[in-house]
Parts: sequence; C-alpha cells; structure tokens
Amino acid sequence: RQEQTFVMVKPDGVSRGLIGPIITRFEQKGFKLAAIELLHIDRALAEQHYGDLKAKPFFGELVDYLTSGPVCAMIWQGEHAVENARALIGKTNPVEASPGTIRGDFAMDIAGNIVHGSDSPASAAREIGLFFGRHAAPHSFDLLG
Ligand code: CMP
Repeated sequence: RQEQTFVMVKPDGVSRGLIGPIITRFEQKGFKLAAIELLHIDRALAEQHYGDLKAKPFFGELVDYLTSGPVCAMIWQGEHAVENARALIGKTNPVEASPGTIRGDFAMDIAGNIVHGSDSPASAAREIGLFFGRHAAPHSFDLLG
C-alpha cells in the first residue's frame, strides 16, 4: 500500500553533514522523495510536533535541541512507508539500534538521535500537515556568510 511518511534530519544530523547519507539510504531502499525543506523551526512548532511528549521530563531539552539549528524536513513515499522508514531509521535509543540502521550507524545518544520518523500513518498525516501544510511558510537560507 502506497503511503507517505514524515522524516526530519535533526539539527545535529544537519550540522554533521548527514543529510546526504540519510537521503541516500531512503533512495537506495526504494522510497520516492515527495517534498524537502531546510528550515529553522520555532519553539511553537517544536512543541506542537512533540505534543504527545509534553509531560515527559526531557520535553524542554527536546525542544531546545530541535530549535538549536536548521532541520531538514522531508516527505518520503512508498509501500508501507511508515513502517519501512522506521525499520531503516532504527530504534529510538541509538544504544539499541542495530548496526545497518541510520541511528545504529550514525548516533550514540537518545537525546541526539539525528533523525525523526513518524510512528504511525495518523502521526505522518499530522506531521506532514504541520511542516508542509498551507500555513507552513517557505524558508531559504543564506549559507555563504
Ligand atoms: P523521536 O523519534 O524524534 O521521537 C521523540 C524523541 O524524544 C526521540 O526521538 C528522542 O529524540 C527524544 N527522547 C526520547 N526519550 C528521551 C530521553 N529519555 N531523553 C531525551 N530525549 C528523549
């Protein structure tokens, strides 16, 4: 079944130069890229995106982390896209993520796990709406300065 999922390279993934390797893995797997944007999200969007985690003790730290620099937001499409993306990304905690997965190969710590993928088709629809919906402003960056 064709579906779409939302994937975001987090600020440390962007600053470490991992957008390319992450995109490569999705393309090699067979996903099609449906949308991509580099943007610096504000606290309101970060808090909305992680609304389910508001009560967690690490929520403030998570919002600080996500707003600390540009992120790369993407929509990837394909068969069972949500589950396939989660398999490719690996477990939330990089300590438990198998080698061969993105987190297993590129991350060490749960607070800096470099990439986010939607956990269900309903989350994917919500997150795609947040980042690529009508109200999301387009952004561009001057990276020369
Ligand atoms: P993500 O897949 O983006 O979904 C929720 C995020 O919360 C998760 O990745 C982690 O970055 C973060 N997270 C989950 N557990 C912890 C934790 N114990 N400490 C800090 N961050 C966490």
